[in-house]
Amino acid sequence: MASTGTNPPQRASLDKDPAEVAAMFDRVAKRYDITNTVLSFGQDRGWRKKTRKALGLRPGEVVLDLAAGTAVSTVELARSGAHCIAADFSLGMLKAGAHRDVPKVAADALHLPFADDSFDAATISFGLRNVHDVSTALAELRRVLKPGGRLVICEFSTPTFKPFRTVYMEYLMKALPAVATKVSSSPAAYVYLAESIRAWPDQFALGDLIREAGFTKVRWQNMTGGIAAIHSARA
Ligand SMILES: C[S@@+](CC[C@H](N)C(=O)[O-])C[C@H]1O[C@@H](n2cnc3c(N)ncnc32)[C@H](O)[C@@H]1O
Repeated sequence: MASTGTNPPQRASLDKDPAEVAAMFDRVAKRYDITNTVLSFGQDRGWRKKTRKALGLRPGEVVLDLAAGTAVSTVELARSGAHCIAADFSLGMLKAGAHRDVPKVAADALHLPFADDSFDAATISFGLRNVHDVSTALAELRRVLKPGGRLVICEFSTPTFKPFRTVYMEYLMKALPAVATKVSSSPAAYVYLAESIRAWPDQFALGDLIREAGFTKVRWQNMTGGIAAIHSARA
């Protein structure tokens, strides 16, 4: 999305131009954690716990938390005793999480600065939907995982019960940007959030993309009726 004036765009377009996505997250960084908790009615904490459990981490394992943002997802993983590394391309998000005691790396999901076969497990929470090229990001995740390494993706998804799905999409399209105006430093970013969730593949289609990237044993579990889902696979 091209900017029309001297001011940068307040949100990324659904093309997910990397510079726009990084700039958008830089802008929301300071209030990111609190906005998340408010907009998800506190569900985010349970979703992070389930992501940690799905990874089945053991002390001493080396784990990549890609698109970790403020590292709020990484500290939950680190409770397992595994060595968890937060990686993100928004320096604003990484700085906003500076108080969190986990190693942080500036990294683009499409060109990961890690050698092949580096990690026992890799995860990405609410990040994959924002990358410009999902297949390349999945291929990079597979490259840096050891053979047989575990991948877990936590992402917004499609509610399974049709009447609930209809209500949810109404909530998203109408209430979410309005609520975001009250709590976020950048309400436009939350209009992007609603649009990007609606355009995101459902559970089955994301499962296909993971399989096409060469992962095996792909499965998923729905959370909160399918508002979010955790996909698991093996490299
Ligand atoms: C919604 S936040 C998720 C943060 C954290 N994982 C969580 O669960 O709260 C999405 C993050 O993805 C990051 N991101 C998007 N595209 C990326 C890319 N190509 N490489 C690295 N990080 C990316 C953004 O900078 C942002 O911090």
